Amino acid sequence: MKERLEELRDEALAKVKAAEDVKSLQEVRVAYLGKKGPITEVLRGMGKLSAEERPVIGQMANDVRDAIKVEVDAKEVLLEQAAIEQQLAEESIDVTLPGRPVSSGSRHPLTIVVEEVEDAFLGLGFSVAEGPEVEVDYYNFEALNLPKDHPARDMQDSFYFTDELLLRTHTSPVQARTMEKHEGKGPVKVICPGKVFRRDDDDATHSHQFMQIEGLYVDEHVRMSDLKGVLEQFAKAFFGEDREIRLRPSFFPFTEPSVEVDVSCGMCAGKGCRICKQSGWIEVLGAGMVHPRVLEMSGFDSTKYSGFAFGMGAERLAMLKYDIDDIRHFYTNDVRFLAQFKRA
Ligand code: DAH
Repeated sequence: MKERLEELRDEALAKVKAAEDVKSLQEVRVAYLGKKGPITEVLRGMGKLSAEERPVIGQMANDVRDAIKVEVDAKEVLLEQAAIEQQLAEESIDVTLPGRPVSSGSRHPLTIVVEEVEDAFLGLGFSVAEGPEVEVDYYNFEALNLPKDHPARDMQDSFYFTDELLLRTHTSPVQARTMEKHEGKGPVKVICPGKVFRRDDDDATHSHQFMQIEGLYVDEHVRMSDLKGVLEQFAKAFFGEDREIRLRPSFFPFTEPSVEVDVSCGMCAGKGCRICKQSGWIEVLGAGMVHPRVLEMSGFDSTKYSGFAFGMGAERLAMLKYDIDDIRHFYTNDVRFLAQFKRA
């Protein structure tokens, strides 16, 4: 029996040593220390032993059992620790790995331009006004000194719904609407961005739908020099401090006198190059002193009030500022084009 116990002990200890995980160790524990295990069996057979042998074998069986238990417990701690370490190693995060890029959208270049123009004029005391894209003939033409048979209506080929209703051809009707709201009392100082529509064939510089930004300042004693000062401020804020402007005589039915405003070429600093067609100047907007008849039609006393107005194309501003060669880029929504306007 003594040999049997020693044999069992060696066998069990060898298995403990060989156990590679908690589960197989648990099997060894149950097999050797459990109630149905071989040691219990040995103890059951003790009845056949002599009175002297019984306590000796009993003691030995207990010692063997204790020895196995000590080893199993110690190995269990080791295996559990190893399991935790393995888990930690597997789940560890390498904080030095580069993160996954988060791709964000970008603002449309026209949105950027409109916001920049608004910012420049808000800084000069203007506020933003809006009007409808579907406009009545009266505000789009008549209130701007363009009666029904006026030849200048041909300058702006229009999309009509009915004789009286059309898609606005410019943002100037917002001038008339805003003045009306002020009921003959100045100052009126607004900037009006919005979509406009014309029956044009689309090409690199024409689009049947585009954006304009209108400006209007009506008050007592507003003069041409105010117009020039405000536009110069704007040109420097939008294009750069080194830019100059010049006014050239022109014609619009709603302003008198009317001017075309050029900004000095940013490419050659006014010396003349391919971009400015050797002139040193680039045309950017139309402007003038609000025609007395336009003031009167919208309820302002033209002997007391005067004003200036201007209108510019947002696409043209964007094309000049970002060196874009085709107006259709703004409307075909190629992400390769749009993504170039992401903020750094
Ligand atoms: N409405 C004009 C156009 O679409 C632009 C314009 C010119 C607006 C002179 C104005 C202005 O307010 O004073 O061509």
